Amino acid sequence: MKNLLVTGGAGFIGANFVHYMLAQHDYRVVVFDKLTYAGNLNNLKDIANDPRYAFVHGDICDAGAVTKAMQDYQIDTIVNFAAETHVDRSILNPDAFIQTDVYGTYVLLEAARQFDVERYHQVSTDEVYGHIAEGKRSRESDPVAPRSPYAASKTSGDLLVKAYFVTYGLPVTISRGSNNVGPYQYPEKVVPLFATNAMEGKPLPLYGDGRQMRDYQYVLDHCEAIDLVLHRGGVGEIYNIGTGTELENIAMVRIILETLHKPESLIQPVADRPGHDRRYALDISKVKALGWMPQYTPPEAIRKTVQWYMENEWWWRPIKAGDFRAYYERQYGERLRASQKS
Ligand code: NAD
Ligand code: DAU
Repeated sequence: MKNLLVTGGAGFIGANFVHYMLAQHDYRVVVFDKLTYAGNLNNLKDIANDPRYAFVHGDICDAGAVTKAMQDYQIDTIVNFAAETHVDRSILNPDAFIQTDVYGTYVLLEAARQFDVERYHQVSTDEVYGHIAEGKRSRESDPVAPRSPYAASKTSGDLLVKAYFVTYGLPVTISRGSNNVGPYQYPEKVVPLFATNAMEGKPLPLYGDGRQMRDYQYVLDHCEAIDLVLHRGGVGEIYNIGTGTELENIAMVRIILETLHKPESLIQPVADRPGHDRRYALDISKVKALGWMPQYTPPEAIRKTVQWYMENEWWWRPIKAGDFRAYYERQYGERLRASQKS
């Protein structure tokens, strides 16, 4: 493993992974990214002059552009983070999710096959298992049961990856991560949205009863586990990655507000997300058996993240002042007005 293609490396987890890999290894890391609304070169600013790093502006659905990058940089490993990733946007408009998360994955798998890579790693999600009842945890061998357009598109990607392993013997691995938090997360996801809204004195639109449960893991824990799976994971295998513990959303919100010394009166319950999965819960024993343990609990991960947003207004304020405003109005305008009336 010498020359890595990190697709989606200008996004939240991808950028953290690039930083992590350059710090840990002496590999060439080539970021291949379309720079959608979620991609941001500010996320890679501090490694821009590292001679081991290169950036290619491209779409994973464009087979010609992918082939050229594979050739130009003699890629031997692909780690695919590129995706449309926000459940709420997938409910508003699923089209880009099907394109990137399904067709884009197929294009990358074909390139991996053509160039005979050492490893193709697919970064997937715990959402493929669907809602998990109290008392149960998802294991890698469990059937998939996605319930949102986002989750269905990611599941389709996983199934293609598995099929390329079985049919063509492509050396693949898949990781299924829980909710990540940390630096550079686009402020549409709940923790950065609520932290920055609270800093701006705006309401925090909590969906439904706020009792939904998520496993909030620190992004660098996730990156470390992916690195381990790349080096020690079994070919053809799937690994769940998370802390293995969950928090109710209302508890997550209280941690954010306490960290910022802001009042609970900022919480504004609004209409629920359609088809909202109430609980995800991972069994992480398989990745732990490779010798990995998460360093941060969910409350620690959330506090550390809020601290980063407090110290890095240069990063998020321009995002929230741009196209984000139109998205926010579309997603929350009516909901917030309706909940203020009731
Ligand atoms: P993100 O939305 O922050 O970033 C996605 C990146 O992919 C952006 O840089 C974007 O420009 C790029 N991209 C989108 N479409 C592309 C295309 N067609 N071609 C090339 N690049 C494209 O996402 P994230 O939160 O960093 O998630 C990264 C991966 O991890 C995704 O596959 C996601 O499904 C998975 N994942 C995310 C979480 C989470 O909590 N954020 C948890 C588990 C798994
Ligand atoms: O579980 C892994 C997944 O985590 C990843 O695959 C996705 O890419 C990532 O976006 C995330 O999905 P979620 O839907 O869980 O994340 P989100 O931050 O959108 O929401 C987290 C919880 O907070 C969820 O129960 C919905 C709730 N929520 C979210 C928003 C944006 C609110 O109550 N209000 C909000 O405004």
